[in-house]
Amino acid sequence: MSTASFPHAGHAAPNEPDAAPGRVLIFDTTLRDGEQAPGCSMTRAQKLRMARILDELGVDIIEAGFPAASDEDAAAVAAIAAAAHRARICALARCQESDIAAAARAVEAAAQARIHLFIATSPIHREHKLRMSRAQVLDAAIAGVRRARALCDDVEFSAEDALRTEPEFLIEVFGAVIAAGARTINVPDTVGYTTPAEIATLFARLRREVAGIERVVLSTHCHDDLGMGVANSLAAAEAGARQIECTLNGIGERAGNAALEEVVMALRTRADRFALNTAIDSTRLYAASRALSGMLGLEVARNKAIVGDNAFAHEAGIHQHGMLANRTTYEIMRPEDVGFPHTRLVLGRHSGRHALRERIGMLGLRVDAERFEMLFAEFKALAESKREVLDADIEALVLGAAVHSRGPWTLAALHVGTYVGGASIASLHLRHCDGRSARETATGNGPVHATMTALVRASGLDLEVVELRVRSIGFGAGAQGEAVLRVQHDAQELRGRGTSTDIVEAAALAILEVINRIERTHPHPPSLSPTDRNGNLTHDDLDQHLSVA
Ligand code: KIV
Ligand code: ZN
Repeated sequence: MSTASFPHAGHAAPNEPDAAPGRVLIFDTTLRDGEQAPGCSMTRAQKLRMARILDELGVDIIEAGFPAASDEDAAAVAAIAAAAHRARICALARCQESDIAAAARAVEAAAQARIHLFIATSPIHREHKLRMSRAQVLDAAIAGVRRARALCDDVEFSAEDALRTEPEFLIEVFGAVIAAGARTINVPDTVGYTTPAEIATLFARLRREVAGIERVVLSTHCHDDLGMGVANSLAAAEAGARQIECTLNGIGERAGNAALEEVVMALRTRADRFALNTAIDSTRLYAASRALSGMLGLEVARNKAIVGDNAFAHEAGIHQHGMLANRTTYEIMRPEDVGFPHTRLVLGRHSGRHALRERIGMLGLRVDAERFEMLFAEFKALAESKREVLDADIEALVLGAAVHSRGPWTLAALHVGTYVGGASIASLHLRHCDGRSARETATGNGPVHATMTALVRASGLDLEVVELRVRSIGFGAGAQGEAVLRVQHDAQELRGRGTSTDIVEAAALAILEVINRIERTHPHPPSLSPTDRNGNLTHDDLDQHLSVA
C-alpha cells in the first residue's frame, strides 16, 4: 500500500482564513456519480477529455471515479490524476482498507489530491445493507478517516443517506471524523428525499452542534428524485454549505444529481439573495454540456434550464414584443453568459477553413491539424447536401469524425430498398484498411433493421443490439439524423454513435463504430456473404431481392 502523503496545496478552501468571502467550491461528480448511472458509462479516453473540459470550466474538485469498483475505473482515475489539471482530483472509497489503498494509488500523481470516504449512516442502510450497529458504523468511519489521512492530506467524509439519519447520530459521527482528520464533511441526500426548508434546518443544526465544524468545509450532495436537487443544494448553501456536489446536465444515479449549470447560474443570477460565488467560467457551460451529451448520446431536453435549446428562445408574440422593447422583460440571464450560440445558423457551402476552425473552437471542441483536413472535407460534403450547417451538425461531425476516421472498417457502399407493409432489404460493402472487403445482404422489418442485420452478419461477431435511439439534430427536413445504440458483446456493453443526413446510414455508422472498436482490440476477419462474393450488389439485384421478399 502506498504511503505517499499529498500536499493540501492550491487555492484556499472557503473556510480557510485566506479564502475569499462567499466562495462556494464546486465539486463535480460527473465522472463518478454521473458516470455510474445507466447509459452514462464512458471510456477512459472520454473521461480524460471530460476532465479537461471540467478543468477549463473552472470546477474546484473533479471526482474522477471509484477505483475499487474495477481496474478500469482505477486506471481512468490514475490517468486523470496524471494529466495536468488546475482542479483537485478526488477518488471515492468505502471505509475499507483495500478501497482506501486503491483510491490513494489512483490519485497519487495528482498535483492536488483528495480521498472521499463514505459509509451509510441511516437506520435503513445500517439495518438492511450494512447489518451494522451505530457503534460499528462510527468505528468504521473513524478508522477509515485515520487510514486515509495517513495517505492523503485532504480527506472528505460522507455520511451516505444523511438526510434519513437520526440528526444526533450524524452530529456524533461528524464530530468524530473531524477529530480523526476529515477536512470536508459532506451531507448527502442520497435518495433525493429532503426539502429546501428541511435541509436548511439540518445544516443550521450541524453548524451549531458538531464539534470542530468551524475547521472544515461543509458540503451538500443532493439527488433529484423529487425534482428538488438544485433547490435543496441552494438551501444548504444559504444555510452554510461551502461546497456543492453536482454534475453537468444533472446526470447521476436514478433521477440524477443537482445540475452544475443550474446551481452555478442560480448563484450568479441571484447573487442579490445568495451573496455567494464560484470560480466557474459560465461562458463555457453550454459547450461543456453539449460535449457531455454528445459523448454519452444523451440528449439535453429542449426545455432544460440554462443549456436546453429553448432556454433562450422566445416564441409567443407578446414575449417577442417585450424582448424587442427591452431584453430584461423576459430574460434574466443573457445567452452569452452561458456561452449559448448567438445564432444556430452558422456555416454554409461557401464557408472556408478559417470559419470552420473558429466555430469548432467556439463550441469548445478541439481537432488536430490532420483530422481537421478530413473534417473540412466532410463539412463541405455536408454543406453540399444540406443548405444550413448548424452548430449541432458541426458537433456531430467533430465527434463522429473522431470515431469513424479511426476505422479499420469503412462503409464503402450501402443500398437499401423498402416497401411499406413488406420487408426491407439492405446490401452493403465494407472495406478494411488492410485491403480486405466484405459484402452482405439481409432483410429486416424496416430499412434500419435490415442494415444492422447485414452489418452484424458481415462482422462475423456475436452482437446484440439492446437499444437504438434515432433523433434529428438541427431543424427542418434537411436536418441530420443521429443514431445512438447500445450493443451487448461478450458480456460487455458497448455504445456506438453515427450521424448522417440519412438515418439508415447514421444507424449503420453507429454499429460500425462498435465493430471497429472490437476489431481494434481483437482483430477478427469478417465473414463474407456467399451471395456477394462476386462483387457489388447492383440495383437490379436489389429489385430482385425486393420482389422475392
Ligand atoms: O449519493 C450519495 O450518497 C453518494 C455518496 C457516495 C456521496 O453519492
Ligand atoms: Zn450520490
